[in-house]
Amino acid sequence: MIRFGLIGCGRISESHFKAVANIKEAQITCCCDIIKERAEEKAAEFEIKKVYTDHKKMLEQESLDAVMICTPSGLHPKIGIDAAEKKLHVITEKPMATDLEAADELISACDKNKVHLFVVKQNRLNTTMQLLKRAIDKGRFGKIYMVQSNVFWQRPQSYFDQAKWRGTWEFDGGAFMNQASHYVDSLHWLIGPVDHVMAETATMERKIETEDTGSAIMKFRNGAIGTINVTLLAYPKNYEGSITILGEKGTVKLGGIAINKIEKWEFDEYDDDDRTVTESNYQPPNVYGFGHQPYYINVVNTILGHAEPETDGRDGRKSLEIIRAIYLSAKEGRKIALPLK
Ligand SMILES: NC(=O)c1ccc[n+]([C@@H]2O[C@H](COP(=O)([O-])OP(=O)(O)OC[C@H]3O[C@@H](n4cnc5c(N)ncnc54)[C@H](O)[C@@H]3O)[C@@H](O)[C@H]2O)c1
Repeated sequence: MIRFGLIGCGRISESHFKAVANIKEAQITCCCDIIKERAEEKAAEFEIKKVYTDHKKMLEQESLDAVMICTPSGLHPKIGIDAAEKKLHVITEKPMATDLEAADELISACDKNKVHLFVVKQNRLNTTMQLLKRAIDKGRFGKIYMVQSNVFWQRPQSYFDQAKWRGTWEFDGGAFMNQASHYVDSLHWLIGPVDHVMAETATMERKIETEDTGSAIMKFRNGAIGTINVTLLAYPKNYEGSITILGEKGTVKLGGIAINKIEKWEFDEYDDDDRTVTESNYQPPNVYGFGHQPYYINVVNTILGHAEPETDGRDGRKSLEIIRAIYLSAKEGRKIALPLK
């Protein structure tokens, strides 16, 4: 039995509690939140034995194999390093950090202590995304010319006012770092390494430090051109989370509110996968989708030595680097080459 401790019992923690509850080889034995009532509430709901308000005390007192970190993003590296130093595997929510230096320190600490570092990128495991990835891997598009991603969502001011960390540079980042980070990761995962980016960002309406709206152009090393547009101001509610790929021999659009619907699927040549397009569509309960469950199956199998991590620290770092390049380009008004120095 793999024993997990969960740190940060806010909105996304629910997906982690539910995912592990469905895996028979794993159990969350304790949870922690600086707001005691939150930890107690989740403990009662998911039958967790022990509750803490200080993660260091939890790491001292509990006998664990791994921790999952669901705190504000800027705290992921520090808490992850504390866990790695106790020889515990680390599962961190995305983004793994808000800056590259802290991400590198977390990767090094996990390497040094010989523990796995998993960065949650559950969108890759959506049925629609898996089908698209397979089509790319089979070469069905021929040459890929263009990729476009839109994240047109609504996050009212009340969302940012819920917690002080939201919309800050240190702990959250903006629409690219938080809401669109899965989409940046997906473009990299699907199309490949990025050569350079150019971007514009703006804080148009929300009273936050970071951007609520932005667009970036990405030139991929394989020659494809990509654009990604994100806004948290879509009227009146979440409207679209999409990825469109235009290739020599195929056109695909995954759309819906969070790439949950295949809106266009057309290829020059038939493949048996074409028959599964309709059944790949799904109705997500929220924009997070259903991917945490399969993500944890990989986590548990990796810890048991039966699998390799779906997304490890180095993989998780790649989208963070692209997002940092987007921010640098928007700030300095110039093209930014990758890798960042
Ligand atoms: N994978 C996804 O699709 C997805 C979706 C939403 C959020 N997230 C990520 O999950 C993280 C949390 O987001 P959220 O929306 O659940 O935030 P939230 O504010 O609802 O929850 C964060 C919780 O962490 C607690 N916390 C803060 N500092 C702590 C500390 N030092 N020790 C223990 N607990 C502490 C807070 O009290 C709060 O309950 C963020 O990094 C976010 O980017 C990922």
